[in-house]
Amino acid sequence: MGLALASLLGASQLASALTVGFSQVGSESGWRTTFSESVKAEAEKRGIDLKFSDAQQKQENQIKAIRSFIAQSVDAIVVAPVVETGWRPVLMEARRARIPVVIVDRNVAVTDDRLYITRIAPDFVDEGRKAAQWLMEATDGRCDIVELQGTVGSSAAIGRMEGFNEVIGKHPEASIVRSQTAEFTRAKGKEVMESILKAEGGGKALCALWAHNDEMALGAIQAIKEAGLKPGEDILVVSVDAVDDIFTALLDGEVNASVEMSPHLGGPAFDVIEAYLGGKRDFEKWMVMDGRVFTQENAKAEYEKRQAN
Ligand code: AHR
Repeated sequence: MGLALASLLGASQLASALTVGFSQVGSESGWRTTFSESVKAEAEKRGIDLKFSDAQQKQENQIKAIRSFIAQSVDAIVVAPVVETGWRPVLMEARRARIPVVIVDRNVAVTDDRLYITRIAPDFVDEGRKAAQWLMEATDGRCDIVELQGTVGSSAAIGRMEGFNEVIGKHPEASIVRSQTAEFTRAKGKEVMESILKAEGGGKALCALWAHNDEMALGAIQAIKEAGLKPGEDILVVSVDAVDDIFTALLDGEVNASVEMSPHLGGPAFDVIEAYLGGKRDFEKWMVMDGRVFTQENAKAEYEKRQAN
């Protein structure tokens, strides 16, 4: 649809005629699955023809998908990037084809910010800070920590690590004793935690697990239990996402804290696209989403609220 036509239409008429390509990271976590479902539901509600592509955690699949969206002359493209680097050429292709791009969730490292309209995402560094602040308060700043990192090269892992390290760096008796990627998946979270517990002589001297997402934390607590320790007591557990499954673990006392990251990014992304195609141009380059910290103390109220919805 050309811009001249778009400007003659109102936002709702425009949405009903829109075709949007969405390149999603994959389905590595419960958070991601909820995110995908919510984008699909939102597109259906708005009458948007959504071309959904699952990249299975591979950037090359995302680049192929974006090229195919361009070839199909979609009205707009939404990208949740697997990793930060390597996006300039394909984003230039979209720009040359005059197809607007919205980045959601993880970031792209490009110097020319005209290559996308806006990015809708939380502050990953701040998520890491919030997790560390909770842990430092809970342990008086004395803690030997195991870190399970997310996908290497993803801005979610890079930012969360940076924010967490910034806070614990102020506590001389807190340190990360083991750090390894578990690729944001539950299976890897379990597997990597099992090998860390073995390497740490069973894990009795460990104070906490810091997982870059809930999914890895849920896998790791299984490994902690199988090693004969109590997650949430013998080893404190703090992570990010606040997915539904983590609430059960919080209420069972097996997880201690999770920093919320909303998976409902489709609505804001479509709002931006509709406004852009309707003629708006002044978008903030980063629309920051805030998240709460859920603990064993405040989990019940949120859990009941979610159950009721
Ligand atoms: O990029 C966001 C992260 O990716 C979420 O925290 C995680 O669950 C997902 O895999």
